[in-house]
Amino acid sequence: MTAGDAPIRVCLIGAGRAGRVHANSIAWRIPGARLTAVVESVAETRSKAVADFGIGRAFADVDAALGWGQFDAVVITTPTFTHRDLAVAAAKAGKHVFVEKPMALSLAECDDMIASADKSGVVLQIGFMRRFDPEFSAAKARIAAGEIGRPMLIKSLTHGPGLPPPWARDAKLSNGMLAEVNSHDWDAVRWLMGADPARVMAEIANFKGKERGVEDPGFYDTALVSIRFADGGLGSITGVCPCDYGYDARVEIVGDKGIMQIGDIKGQAVTVVTDRETGLREPVYRTWPERFAWGYILEMEHFIDCIRTDRPPSVTGNDGRWAVASVLAATRSFQEERPVKLTEVMD
Ligand SMILES: NC(=O)c1ccc[n+]([C@@H]2O[C@H](COP(=O)([O-])OP(=O)(O)OC[C@H]3O[C@@H](n4cnc5c(N)ncnc54)[C@H](O)[C@@H]3O)[C@@H](O)[C@H]2O)c1
Repeated sequence: MTAGDAPIRVCLIGAGRAGRVHANSIAWRIPGARLTAVVESVAETRSKAVADFGIGRAFADVDAALGWGQFDAVVITTPTFTHRDLAVAAAKAGKHVFVEKPMALSLAECDDMIASADKSGVVLQIGFMRRFDPEFSAAKARIAAGEIGRPMLIKSLTHGPGLPPPWARDAKLSNGMLAEVNSHDWDAVRWLMGADPARVMAEIANFKGKERGVEDPGFYDTALVSIRFADGGLGSITGVCPCDYGYDARVEIVGDKGIMQIGDIKGQAVTVVTDRETGLREPVYRTWPERFAWGYILEMEHFIDCIRTDRPPSVTGNDGRWAVASVLAATRSFQEERPVKLTEVMD
């Protein structure tokens, strides 16, 4: 930002878990952005966001905020089933849109979002912060530089510590754990391999749901997916949530010249030994805001910069759409107990 540039004014929609992470970046970490307004349907959550982040205007629904209209962009951090309507309304009003993953529940919803952003000529960026994490982005650059040769096999895992919020435990409102937790893996494997998934086979299991009081028959807490990519590469995605032990996101890629590992289960470079029986004790990452702290800040900085410089974002609606398609194919795979081609859900 040069002196004299007006800050980009942002309206946050949804001030829950992810909303507060982005509010923190916009309010305190990005000089070229201002957190001007918040839309939050729960009064107590809304007041807390206003107080914690010094937000000037607060609204209970998006129509009231768009009616007021004194902002340039929205950051949508509401439950997945609301993303399409909120993004389309904002884009139609000429507001740039950052929307959290999963982009939406269906490909038709993704298409509506892409079409309305295109028509209004606004930025549409999807919240795949791993692409901005210093370790993931260094890995991508080193693959592109040919350090491990042609990627042949990728393994990506995400294990989340606790149960997701109540709406996300309902498969109809969230598309389940493969969407809510593993959307990041779907995007990362496609991005790092440089190839689209062509066929998937998924298995799921539910170990802890019942004992934690989750009654939804569609709920699962453990998943394993094998992937064949369009260029012949292979991959796997695994997910566990709740895993209870911490937040864990790691990737391994084998190329024809070597192997690359991204991420570590260790959260801090601190090692403690207090007795011979226990041995080494090393802290793990406890939460996703902690593990991807820089990714969240840098992805928001990118969004603001794309608005300011009138550039397309590096993470597009099409990337979000691919992750949704992958989730739908994998869901069909475990439901019908067979491998599913991406063309079956995309055509
Ligand atoms: N990128 C990441 O790592 C990451 C992490 C967590 C969640 N997420 C995503 O962020 C989104 C929100 O998840 P969360 O865990 O923060 O959920 P949450 O339930 O903690 O928060 C959602 C908030 O939105 C509010 N809300 C719901 N409908 C609304 C509406 N129409 N208008 C205004 N406010 C509304 C709710 O009252 C709640 O405060 C989901 O898409 C989720 O997948 C992304």
